[in-house]
Amino acid sequence: MSLLDDIEKLQAKALSELEQADSPDAVEQWRIRYIGSKGAVREMMQRLKEVPREQKPAAGKAANALKNTLEDAYKRRMSAAPTPRRVSQRPKVDATLPGRRRPVGHTHILTQTIEEITDIFGRMGFEMVHGREVEDERHNFDGLNIPAWHPARDPWENFYIDGRGDLMLRSQTSTVQIRTMESREPPVRIIAPGRVYRPDTVDATHSFMFYQVEGLYVDEGVSMADLKTCLDQFCKAYLGPEVATRFRPSFFPFTEPSAEVDILFEYDDGSTEWIELGGSGMVDPAVLEFVGYDCEKYTGFAFGLGIERMAMRKHNIPDIRLLFEGDVRFLHQF
Ligand code: DAH
Repeated sequence: MSLLDDIEKLQAKALSELEQADSPDAVEQWRIRYIGSKGAVREMMQRLKEVPREQKPAAGKAANALKNTLEDAYKRRMSAAPTPRRVSQRPKVDATLPGRRRPVGHTHILTQTIEEITDIFGRMGFEMVHGREVEDERHNFDGLNIPAWHPARDPWENFYIDGRGDLMLRSQTSTVQIRTMESREPPVRIIAPGRVYRPDTVDATHSFMFYQVEGLYVDEGVSMADLKTCLDQFCKAYLGPEVATRFRPSFFPFTEPSAEVDILFEYDDGSTEWIELGGSGMVDPAVLEFVGYDCEKYTGFAFGLGIERMAMRKHNIPDIRLLFEGDVRFLHQF
C-alpha cells in the first residue's frame, strides 16, 4: 500500500472524526491525535524518508497538503460556534412562547362570606365594627346579664388565659354590643363579624374557633317586627328570595324575648330541613341599663349568627374543618 493511499485515507478519517467531535474535549483529543507533535500527520512525515527518491516530490507534496488541510479544518472548527452538544445542553429560551403565569390567590371563602354578609347589612344601614378577641368577663358576661353563677362561665366552657386575671378568648361576639354601647349614644346600628372561641371537640360541625356575626340596633321604638323583618330580609338576600325563615322561642340572658332563627333548607332531592342560624331577641333592659342607656326611652334588637353555617349551607360544604385546613384544592373551588 503506497504512502499516497495512506495519506488519502488518513485525511478522510481525520476530517470525519473532527466533524463528529461533539465537545471541546473531543476536539482537543482530535488535535492531539492528528496534528499534535506526536500525531498521525507527524508520523506520516517520518515515513517520507522510506519513500524511493523519484516518488519523494509527489509524496512530500501530498503530506504537506494533508498537514495544511487538517490544520485548516482544526482552525475553522475552533473559530466556529461552540460544539453542538454544548449548545443543546444550555436551557433553551423561546422568547415567542407565552409567559408563565404566576398563580394568584384569592380571598378565602369565609372572608368572601363575611364580605357578602356585611355588604347586605350595610345596605340596610348597619355599620361594621370590630371588638377584641381577647376579652374580659365584664364584656363577655357581666354586661350581657350573665351572672357569676351561670354555667356559661364555667372554665370548661371557655378559654380563660392562665394568670391573666379575668382575661379570656371571647366566646361570643355579643361582647361587641357592650363595647359599642359603652362608647356611644343611641341610635346604634352595627354589625360585628369575627372569631369566637370555645373548647368544643372538633368534628364535622364543631370547631374550637369559629366565626359569628353580631348585630345590634338600638333606637326609639325598635320592635320585634323590625327584628323579624331585618333577619328575614337578610336571609333572602344571602340565600335566595325563596328561603323561608322561622323564629323559635328561646332564652338568652341578654334578650327578652329571645328567639332562635331558623331557615328552611331544601336539599337536592327535594327534602327539607329547618337549620338553626343563630340567636336573636329584644335587648334586655338590664343590658341597656348596664351601659347607661335610658331603657324607658330606647329599645333594641340583637342577633348573633354562625358564619360557617351559612357558608356551608350556601356552598354545600359538608365539613367545617375544610374551612380551616387551608387545602388549596378545596379553597380553589370558591
Ligand atoms: N351570643 C349568642 C351565642 O353565641 C348568640 C346570640 C343570641 C346573640 C341572641 C345575640 C342574641 O345577639 O340576641 O350563642
